[in-house]
Amino acid sequence: MTKHIVISFLIVVGVVLQACHKDQVVDFRENIADITQVPKGFPDIDYPNDNAFTVDRWTLGKKLFFDKRLSKDSSTSCGSCHKPHLAFSDNIATTNGVFDLPGTRNAPTLTNVAYQPYYTREGGIATLEMQVLVPVQEHNEFGFNIIEIAERLSSDSSYQRLSRNAYGRTLDYYHDRSGHCKF
Ligand code: HEC
Repeated sequence: MTKHIVISFLIVVGVVLQACHKDQVVDFRENIADITQVPKGFPDIDYPNDNAFTVDRWTLGKKLFFDKRLSKDSSTSCGSCHKPHLAFSDNIATTNGVFDLPGTRNAPTLTNVAYQPYYTREGGIATLEMQVLVPVQEHNEFGFNIIEIAERLSSDSSYQRLSRNAYGRTLDYYHDRSGHCKF
């Protein structure tokens, strides 16, 4: 998957995970001031230097977050486990992922994850960008890999448009923060 994709997840999970009712359709673009407003008493979010918040990045990230094509059998999205109407968590012990395979842990809330210094129960993941790669490769979550996801989504012209708007280039897979391709 792309730096764009990974970073956009960061935007999604870090900034705009505001719980909304599941049946409620909200056009967040109209409420962008609310989205970017850090609540009173909260510190500012420490964005990566090369990944400031923009509405276009958020829009790309939101589409990716709810896109089931990120899983090998196109059954599961991030939002399948991190459900918006449950504060981006789940209310069952474990959630099934790709090929209906059972999960092993409860899907935690993503509320305020932008402030966390590390991720997963063991704390072994240092950044939100890296955290995105975990469900991608877990055999019972997306069961896929980032390169194939990028290839699958590249044929979707709406992703190409969103990617250009957000990051000034077409969709590709993961890059490190210096912009160099890692694979
Ligand atoms: C099949 C269910 C499932 C899917 C799909 C899934 N997650 Fe998760 N997520 C989990 C579980 C379970 C954990 C807890 C993992 C652990 O602690 O080892 C988790 C942990 C996380 C965390 C760390 C939270 C913390 O407090 O440490 C983040 C961030 C996250 N997921 C974001 C995402 C994103 C973004 C996607 C899509 C790219 C995604 N997840 C897809 C189930 C899922």
